[in-house]
Amino acid sequence: MTRILLIVGGGIAAYKACELIRLLRRGGHDVRCVLTDGGAHFVTPMTLAALSERPVHTSLWDLKDEAEMGHIQLSRQADLVVVAPATADLMARMAGGVADDLATTLLLATDKPVLAVPAMNVRMWQHPATRRNIATLRGDGITVLEPDEGPMACGEFGPGRLPEPHAIVAAIEALTGTPASKPAPSLAGRHILVTAGPTHEPIDPVRYLANRSSGKQGFAIAAACAARGGRVTLVAGPVTLATPAGVDRIDVETAREMADAVTQALPADVAVMVAAVADWHVDAAPSKLKKDGGAPVLALRPNPDILATLGASDRRPRLLVGFAAETDDVLVHATAKRSAKNADWIVANDVGGDVMGGDRNEVHLVTAAGAERWPDAPKSEIADRLADRIADALR
Ligand code: C5P
Repeated sequence: MTRILLIVGGGIAAYKACELIRLLRRGGHDVRCVLTDGGAHFVTPMTLAALSERPVHTSLWDLKDEAEMGHIQLSRQADLVVVAPATADLMARMAGGVADDLATTLLLATDKPVLAVPAMNVRMWQHPATRRNIATLRGDGITVLEPDEGPMACGEFGPGRLPEPHAIVAAIEALTGTPASKPAPSLAGRHILVTAGPTHEPIDPVRYLANRSSGKQGFAIAAACAARGGRVTLVAGPVTLATPAGVDRIDVETAREMADAVTQALPADVAVMVAAVADWHVDAAPSKLKKDGGAPVLALRPNPDILATLGASDRRPRLLVGFAAETDDVLVHATAKRSAKNADWIVANDVGGDVMGGDRNEVHLVTAAGAERWPDAPKSEIADRLADRIADALR
């Protein structure tokens, strides 16, 4: 067990600190949080307290804190101090030896290793003042991680994104020399077949029927299974997402193409059918329908139900998982779907809000034993949890 003092600075990336705490706690580690005034604009002390299962410290002048746990004590009782997100301002104050709030005072008082995980706008990151401050911090023996590169909350693109919580955990592990998280159960030697995204059903060469599925949840599940050592085939409808590392991806457009790709990818130990497959297609016109020909009547024809077909197949994977996206009576429909399609599990979610296309999800896992509610979480976290359950079920 590593005792981590986590200082959460004031940036939009503060929300990722929540996921970091969860991962560290899951690894059995003790996390105490200090929230700066800026950080409290992005996450609340209550959130951090609930996740860390510890009181959160916010003020240097909180006498109760000083009586129960002076700031020197707070840093002395930690094995490592982690600053995430480390903002440009916080790092400037650290580099200058400023001690004008609880976070900077702790950082000046500590004799423990310090890991700073920066997150800021790309220009702030590249500014000579920040470069100087980082050089100073590194010269003082502080480990400063390189930020990730990519689209930023401010709309710009470049280095400055907070590294993903898994990467921060790995850096903590490297610094403390102890595994900071329990190894995830392995899927080595298993073939996992995942469908994801919408399907497009052409009406004519330029028009199609579609739905709002982004593919994010299915891609996250493929990534989580590959990260656990599984051989993953991802049959993806038309989405613009990057292929997760170590995943074999087959791109398809229509439900019928998806059904064929799934059949060809068999046998599989597990199939996780996340795709929002269109229920119907039309016989596409060979050339563009002209509007002066009057409004066409579309004759909808049923698509193959890939999940139900697998459920009835003699090549049925050992574990068959479906998804149920519903706007009403989610559990009733999911439970009925589980038996109608002969699936082992149904992951049910209410898509009444902004789940489709969003980064978070709130689901129920419906199994033979009943329904479990999983709390609202990033799609990556739902994927990790599902991949762990799959690995456990196959053991
Ligand atoms: O019947 P419904 O579309 O709500 O069922 C959802 C589940 O069935 C999802 O797992 C989805 O991937 C799968 N499905 C399928 N083929 C279809 C329709 C749905 O595999 N044609």
